[in-house]
Amino acid sequence: MQLKIGNISAIELAKTYGTPLYVYDKSILLNKMKELKDSFPNSKICYAIKANSNLDILKIIANGGFGADCSNAIELSYAKKAGFNLKNSLFTAVNPKDEDLKFALESGVTINLDDISILKRLLNFGTPEIISFRINPGFGKGKFPGIVVGGSGTKFGMNEDLAREAYKLAKQKGIKRFGIHMMTGSCVLYEDYFEELTFAIQEIANRISQSLDINFEFIDIGGGLGVPYEPHEKALNLKSIGERVEKAFTYPATLFLEPGRFFVAESGTLLTQVTTIKNNFIGVDAGMSTLLRPALYNAYHPIVLANNTESEYIQEANIVGPICENTDCFAKNRAMPLVKEKDILAIQVVGAYGFVMSSRYNGLLRPAEILVDNEKIEVIREREKIDDVI
Ligand code: LLP
Repeated sequence: MQLKIGNISAIELAKTYGTPLYVYDKSILLNKMKELKDSFPNSKICYAIKANSNLDILKIIANGGFGADCSNAIELSYAKKAGFNLKNSLFTAVNPKDEDLKFALESGVTINLDDISILKRLLNFGTPEIISFRINPGFGKGKFPGIVVGGSGTKFGMNEDLAREAYKLAKQKGIKRFGIHMMTGSCVLYEDYFEELTFAIQEIANRISQSLDINFEFIDIGGGLGVPYEPHEKALNLKSIGERVEKAFTYPATLFLEPGRFFVAESGTLLTQVTTIKNNFIGVDAGMSTLLRPALYNAYHPIVLANNTESEYIQEANIVGPICENTDCFAKNRAMPLVKEKDILAIQVVGAYGFVMSSRYNGLLRPAEILVDNEKIEVIREREKIDDVI
């Protein structure tokens, strides 16, 4: 049986639109949006745009009534264009440029800062009504070392004492409304963690608010909700996480979350054509420039033969791209069926941090992106052409 995405054969999509090709299944995205809403009925959810910033994907999420979490002026511009309500959105930047701060201030988004020095720079451009600071609680969790963004030695946020100084300065400068934020890691499949984060940030919020006599309007526990990539990994029970987190949240404020991956990861598939079979190497036309995660983190992505999803595994193969280095490898010693030249492989769970991390390394041009809604197909990004880059 051929792999289907929505109601469309992946082989037909590859034939019509060429490869490599990112394909998103709208119904999966809508289901994830519903799951998030149903699981956190009393919280505000801001989508972390960095996970997938295709404008059509952003429009679907904005239409669902979510806010956005943006990391710079460009992402803020995407959010605006896609129709997110910036009053309901966050700007969480690391080492922002003055231009980003100015743009954020003028846009009316709630600004979340990483350091007291950045507050001082921001105040050169004006005084926001509300300010939030990012706390580094001294711990973090994530699937790979590169995506644990809390804890000592990481560049993110401030410890409690520094944060207190930052809120004190903000209060002195006339800012009256406050939020507090934490983002400690990405792709967490350990269910207790989100409740633990909620308790940890509330304790910090309580201490700071008492010592400075300020109130927090919102408390943000960040993103980090993981999705299963590997066969042994289980999906999070989001309903139970939501119940536990909302029960743990007793501070009189609004709870914010800013997931990225959870919204989009599972809706995305990368179709790639087999160009070469050599010994136990299966060479394909996508490379680490098309999908960087395996090369960068040694990340596992499921890979299936789209021509026949039921064919028996008969070999262990390395699935590699066309780029001139050994890191250009999607899977090592992966159990695979018999694969022939011109077959189509589907690399799955690539909707988050897939296209957004693509590059033009080795001259590979960026692939097209397609949105499938049952029978309907929409090109949501044209394939890059050589004339676009020369
Ligand atoms: N909020 C902030 C401030 C963030 O920096 C991030 C992700 C998120 C929210 C969303 O986190 P999520 O829910 O997606 O875990 N490139 C890596 C992921 C890096 C995540 C960085 N920050 C990957 O491919 O796995």
